[in-house]
Amino acid sequence: MYARLPLNKIGAFAEYVAVDAHAVAKMPSGYSFTTAAAIPLTGLTAYQGIVEQLEAKPGQTLLILGGSGSFGEMAVPIAKHLGLRVIVTGNSRARERFLAMGAEQYLDYQKENYWQTLSGIDHVIDTLGASEFDRALSVLKPGGRLLSLRTGPNRTFAEQNNFSPLKKVLFTLAGAKYDAAARKQKKEYRFLFVHADGAQLKEVTRIVEENKIIPAIDPHRFSLAQADEALRLVQQGPINGKVLIRMEGCEEE
Ligand SMILES: NC(=O)c1ccc[n+]([C@@H]2O[C@H](COP(=O)([O-])OP(=O)(O)OC[C@H]3O[C@@H](n4cnc5c(N)ncnc54)[C@H](OP(=O)(O)O)[C@@H]3O)[C@@H](O)[C@H]2O)c1
Repeated sequence: MYARLPLNKIGAFAEYVAVDAHAVAKMPSGYSFTTAAAIPLTGLTAYQGIVEQLEAKPGQTLLILGGSGSFGEMAVPIAKHLGLRVIVTGNSRARERFLAMGAEQYLDYQKENYWQTLSGIDHVIDTLGASEFDRALSVLKPGGRLLSLRTGPNRTFAEQNNFSPLKKVLFTLAGAKYDAAARKQKKEYRFLFVHADGAQLKEVTRIVEENKIIPAIDPHRFSLAQADEALRLVQQGPINGKVLIRMEGCEEE
């Protein structure tokens, strides 16, 4: 079994955890723990982003900003599986890998400005944050949705998560300028913080198995005692895939 741990009991830097049965799913058949460990968080984020937040339909275009990392490793094949046309911005190292994965277009962020060449996009997923907001919004078609994983929560996010009245007010205020800017262009801003969901993870697993999706794993390996070093590497990079912490006694492959 595997899981993205529920937020109210998060803490995966541990040899054992007790997890609500509703949060777990069977690991993809024939996958090692090493590869499977890279799937739940990014796979669920991609699934919830594309299906729940964007409500994307086959044939529509999805632009993923900063899609050359671990999120893109799952989001691109899942979006392709759901019938979307995918465009990615990312680093030069990942270009060939993502084109081979089925991205229709790949823009190297150090050489190409997507906001100068793209327009009329149905959906954008942004992994970069607030500094990208205006440019991301500009390439969307009217009626399109911009979903960010980083820019920050807004009113819709608070309502969808059934937060307390106080939190609703705070998040409404925090996201007001993004909501207003999007509304002015007849577009919509959404924010996502991935949640645990065993039924959705089961569906992600089915997509992974059917499409033989193998997310990239960074070659560095860390023990639990080296968790600080692992986090430093994630923060400072460069990384090439998910950074794993190996538990004592867990087989490498
Ligand atoms: N809200 C949520 O629920 C949620 C869920 C999952 C992830 N996230 C967040 O989403 C972000 C991405 O996650 P990840 O795991 O995919 O990270 P990652 O593996 O570090 O990938 C980020 C990728 O973006 C590239 N990049 C950097 N600057 C860029 C730019 N200006 N334009 C285009 N690409 C650029 C990086 O290339 P270089 O190697 O050149 O830096 C890297 O390939 C993180 O901040 C993570 O915390 C949020």
